[in-house]
Amino acid sequence: MYKYTKEVMSPKFVGKEVTLRGWVYRKREQKDIIFILLRDSEGVIQITVRKGTKPFKEAEKLSIESSFIVRGVVKEDKRAPGGFELEAKEIKIIHLAERFPITRDVSKSFLLDVRHLWIRSRKMNSILKVRSKVMKYIREFFDKRGFVEISPPMFVSGACEGGATLFEVKYFDDKVYLTQSWQLYAEAVIFSIDKIYTIAPSFRAEKSRTIRHLTEYWHAEAEIAFADLDDVMKLEEDLLCEICKRVKKECKEELEILKVDLTKFKKVKKPFPRLKYEEVLERLRKKGFKMKFGEDLGYDEEKAIAAEIGGPFFIYAYPKETRAFYCKAYEDNKELVKAVDLLVPRIGELASGSERIDDKEELIRRIKELKMDPKQYEWYIDLRRYGSVPHAGFGLGIERLLAWLLDLESVQDAIPFPRTLTRTYP
Ligand code: 4AD
Ligand code: MG
Repeated sequence: MYKYTKEVMSPKFVGKEVTLRGWVYRKREQKDIIFILLRDSEGVIQITVRKGTKPFKEAEKLSIESSFIVRGVVKEDKRAPGGFELEAKEIKIIHLAERFPITRDVSKSFLLDVRHLWIRSRKMNSILKVRSKVMKYIREFFDKRGFVEISPPMFVSGACEGGATLFEVKYFDDKVYLTQSWQLYAEAVIFSIDKIYTIAPSFRAEKSRTIRHLTEYWHAEAEIAFADLDDVMKLEEDLLCEICKRVKKECKEELEILKVDLTKFKKVKKPFPRLKYEEVLERLRKKGFKMKFGEDLGYDEEKAIAAEIGGPFFIYAYPKETRAFYCKAYEDNKELVKAVDLLVPRIGELASGSERIDDKEELIRRIKELKMDPKQYEWYIDLRRYGSVPHAGFGLGIERLLAWLLDLESVQDAIPFPRTLTRTYP
C-alpha cells in the first residue's frame, strides 16, 4: 500500500521497502546518481537513484512537478533533508510536467497570478493545514461551552456594517446583497438557542488595498442572549488563548516551516489589557497623532497603540459615530457605545463586538438618525417586540487571525484563493 513521506521518515522504517506517490519538488543530477525530492501532502523526502539501476532512465525523464510513484528502501542519512532517504528500486511516471512557471526569483504578484500552482508550495501547504486546525479549535472551543453552530444566509436584504461596503447582487428581478456579517440573523436565533456561533464567509466591497482587507473573508462569530460587554471580552480572551495554546502545541511542524516567531505566544496572557477609547486617544496624541474625539482609529493608529501594548488587548467604549447602528449606548453617557475591538500587534483589529440595542424605540431612533430605511429592518425591529433580552456578540476575521499567528505579510496568504479589489482570478 502507499505510504506518506512523514510516516516513513522514522527509524522504524529503516531497511523496509515502501511505495510513495507524489510530485518532483527538486531534482539534482550528478554523473552516477540522481537526487529527487519527492513532495506529497505530508512533506518531502530525498529519493536516490543510482546509475545502472532499473529506475535511472525514468528518473532522468522526470521534470519539476511531474507526478510519479516510487518503490524503494528507506535509509537513514544525516545529509538528506529530514535525515532519511529512499533508495529507488522502481519509478513509475504518472505525468511528465511541462516547464513549471514558478522559479526562485518570481514576484509576489506573479505568485498571486499563479495561486493555483503556488498552492503546492510548502508555505501554502503549511498555512492551509494551520487554517484547518484553527477552524477546528474554534469549533471545539464553542462546542465545549455548549454553543450551537448556526449557518446564516449569504444573500441578505440589508446592510449590517454600513452601505459603503455592500456587494449588490442581481436576484431575478430584484436586488439583494452579500452578507457582511451573520449578526442580525444571529440576533433572531438567540431567542431559540441562547448561545450560538458560526464560521462562514462574509463579503465586503472593500476598496482599500491593505495587508488586512479581502472582499471575501471567513468570519467566526458568536452571539449570546443575556450577555454583556464584559462577557464578550472574556469569551474573546478565552478563545484567543485556547487557539494560541493549541497552535503552539499542535502545529509545531508548520510553525517551523513558516519560521514563525514564537515570542508572540508569551504575550498572550489573561486578562488582556482593557483600554477605553478616550484613554487610547490620549496615548495616541502623546505619540503625535492628531485625533479628535469621534474619529475612528485607522490602521496607522491601531499599529502604533498595538506596538506600545505588545500583545493582544481590548479597546472599548467607542463614540457612537464610529460604530454600526445596532450598538447599545452607555446609560450614563449616550455618546459612547458598549462596543469593543480586540487588537494585536502588526495587524491591529482582529475582532469587533458589542452589546446590541434591545429596546425597540431606541433602535428605531438610531436607524432613523443614520438615515437608514426602517422598512428593510422591520423583521429585525420585531425581535425587540417579543420578549426582547439584553444580548451581545462579536465577530473575528479568520485571515487576520492567521496572518498574526503565522507572521504572514498579508491576509491574502491566509486563504487559498484571495479575493480583493483587483483580484478574482484564479
Ligand atoms: O468589525 P466588523 O465589521 O464587525 C462585524 O461585522 C460585526 N457584525 C461582528 C459581530 O459583532 N458579530 O468585522 C469583524 C471582523 C473584523 O474585526 C476583522 O477581523 C474582520 O471581521 N474583517 C475583515 N477581514 C478581512 N477583510 C475584510 N475586508 C474585513 N472586514 C472585517
Ligand atoms: Mg470592526
